[in-house]
Amino acid sequence: MKLQLLQPGLLRSSLLNILLLPAVLLSMVLATDAQQTAAGDMATEQKIRTLISQMTLQEKVSLLHGNSKFYVAGIKRLGIPEWALSDGPHGVRAEINRHDWAYAGWTNDSATCFPPGTALAATWNPALAYQQGLVLAEEARYRKKDVLLGPGVNIIRSPLCGRNFEYMSEDPLLVSKMAVAYIKALQSKDVAASVKHWLANNQEEHRDSIDVTMSERALREIYLPAFKASVTEGGAYTVMAAYNRFRGEWCSENDYLNRQLLRNEFGFKGVLMTDWSAAHSTVKAALTGLDLEMGTDKKDYNEWYFASPLVKAVEEGKVPVSVVDEKVGNVLRVMFNTKVFDEKNREKGTMNTPAHQQAAYHAAAEAAVLLQNKGKLLPLQVDKLKSIAVIGDNATRKHCSGGLSSEIKTLYEITPLQALQQKLGARVKINYAQGYEKQSTFREGNNTGQSSADKVDWKLIDEAVAAARESDVAIIFGGLNHDFDTESSDKQNMDLPYGQEILIQEVAKANPNTIVVIIAGSPVKLAGIVHRVPAILWSWFGGMEAGNVVADLLSGKINPSGKLPFTLPVSLSQSPAHALGNFPGRDLKVNYEEDILVGYRWFDTKRIQPQFPFGYGLSYTDFSISHFSTDKVSYGKNEIIHAKFTIKNTGSLHGAEVVQLYVSDPVCSVLRPEKELKAFEKIFLKPGETKTVELQVKVADLAFYDELKKAWNAEAGEYILQIGNSSHNIFQKEKISVK
Ligand code: BGC
Repeated sequence: MKLQLLQPGLLRSSLLNILLLPAVLLSMVLATDAQQTAAGDMATEQKIRTLISQMTLQEKVSLLHGNSKFYVAGIKRLGIPEWALSDGPHGVRAEINRHDWAYAGWTNDSATCFPPGTALAATWNPALAYQQGLVLAEEARYRKKDVLLGPGVNIIRSPLCGRNFEYMSEDPLLVSKMAVAYIKALQSKDVAASVKHWLANNQEEHRDSIDVTMSERALREIYLPAFKASVTEGGAYTVMAAYNRFRGEWCSENDYLNRQLLRNEFGFKGVLMTDWSAAHSTVKAALTGLDLEMGTDKKDYNEWYFASPLVKAVEEGKVPVSVVDEKVGNVLRVMFNTKVFDEKNREKGTMNTPAHQQAAYHAAAEAAVLLQNKGKLLPLQVDKLKSIAVIGDNATRKHCSGGLSSEIKTLYEITPLQALQQKLGARVKINYAQGYEKQSTFREGNNTGQSSADKVDWKLIDEAVAAARESDVAIIFGGLNHDFDTESSDKQNMDLPYGQEILIQEVAKANPNTIVVIIAGSPVKLAGIVHRVPAILWSWFGGMEAGNVVADLLSGKINPSGKLPFTLPVSLSQSPAHALGNFPGRDLKVNYEEDILVGYRWFDTKRIQPQFPFGYGLSYTDFSISHFSTDKVSYGKNEIIHAKFTIKNTGSLHGAEVVQLYVSDPVCSVLRPEKELKAFEKIFLKPGETKTVELQVKVADLAFYDELKKAWNAEAGEYILQIGNSSHNIFQKEKISVK
């Protein structure tokens, strides 16, 4: 059986070839850009001042609030066009009516649908986030959009958060790397990113009223880094303030978040907008740094906080006009940066080209995580198979159109059953059985259908068992759907719904060659099946190419190379927020008591064995990692550690391994997590190929946030660098010391 090299073999288009630029060249391009911008910046600032000087107060304020669901009015007489915003971390959302939430029914807005956030992070390949950003920008521009509302960079704190699928990971470094690449690509094609949801929107339950508190250290080490990197490294042009409160104040009018951190510390010069209907005041929000009010639930747009009430507040002297000018300046700056005033040279965009679809395929291909493969059941020996039982509602269910604001009207979506029939059907008999039924119905704001979705349907199970019995192998497509992984409500538990556990157990009894494919965007409990079936593949919500990818993974055309971007607990009670009983909080308050011990930081420090650890994922080939060394044994605080290792593909198939560098600080004046991810690299290797790879870590990045000093502190002493292919599978350790 021939396996394809995942990268660069699959990339063909010129768009995608940009990705193949060596990192050095890419950074040179970006550096030259930076030098040129200084001069450009001054000219732009002058133009901004000139435009503002020509505006009436009413005109200024008209730029600071929506005039429909996703648009902001322009000022015709000054040549300022209306501003168009669109949803979509993983695809450009279809056109919505100006004044209500119904879809407008356009015929040219069927988008490319990528796998959502957790899948993107599971690729551990920032080049794919970059590729996705380029495609999204091209489609956004084709649709004449100026701002795309993504990426979602909140940390996965609990397995239950409904929006985990849109977010990326429990680890701040992994989220940061993916977000920065995504934003740079998107904005390189004249579309502004909107990093969301600023800040601590880590649950959907009571999201519009909950007050989140956490230590300054947890904020700095866990919840801020991805936002900070998005702004300071990614250069994000806009940020979206979350619905919730943070330390008592709404995020949209939070002086600490918006003035002190975002503006002063991060140097953010772009637009801070509200989430849709997350504004709560005029004067306070204006003074604390909010620029743009969107989605407020009042029919008359003039009544919005940042409409007539803002004009009035300025007239009454409650808000200085300079504050309004600053906001208008921020909006105009983003417009200039995205060439809104330079249509001729602006990205024109394309829609759903074969290259875009190939990018969606590629993202899904590198996202899939092979969790278990006993007896090397996978890849399937297709030539030797006569029949396959394909079981499960998720074998035929399409997912792109779910999840609420990130839902995509995709041009097409291939289901697993369709793809298997198309690719193997001529040679192999496919016996399909539904196995379980989707018993829930999603209702926004009151998604209680989930809890009664656990009936065991013995009729469907019997049919599935019969199909499995008469087939050489059985493949069960289970997991979740967007009744569970969705905006606006959290999951109520981590279980596999609809009696799937029993279904899987019964099918496995009937056919020992049973493979489970999990389609889900957030952790589910696998304890009831992991010892019953030989093979488990986690293929996420796979976007428009989901079926093709999963069929190619099963048949061995692609070799799995994804790694878990979150810890998969045995049970919910293992998980930090749940072990401490502080999810989703009490009396509309939640304190993040687990502090910095989020995800694997908790599991490893507390010595809790999860079902599958963070960073875990198998391949159809094998790798050996050796010769781990650092360039020195002792470093100064401003130095960079150069760590090298050798990796060899010792198997007979092409493949990719994600090598992860973790650091421990065994003796420290404060509690440190057992280990923390500090660098990673996905390495593609032919059979027998060896590469020596260097990872770099700044000594400064070994620091913890010292609450006493109110500063980062890399204490002098010994640190242990550990290299592995998951947070648990460590191959070698090296001690270094910091002076
Ligand atoms: C979501 C945002 C989204 C906005 C616009 C809100 O409900 O939280 O993520 O961008 O709606 O649809």
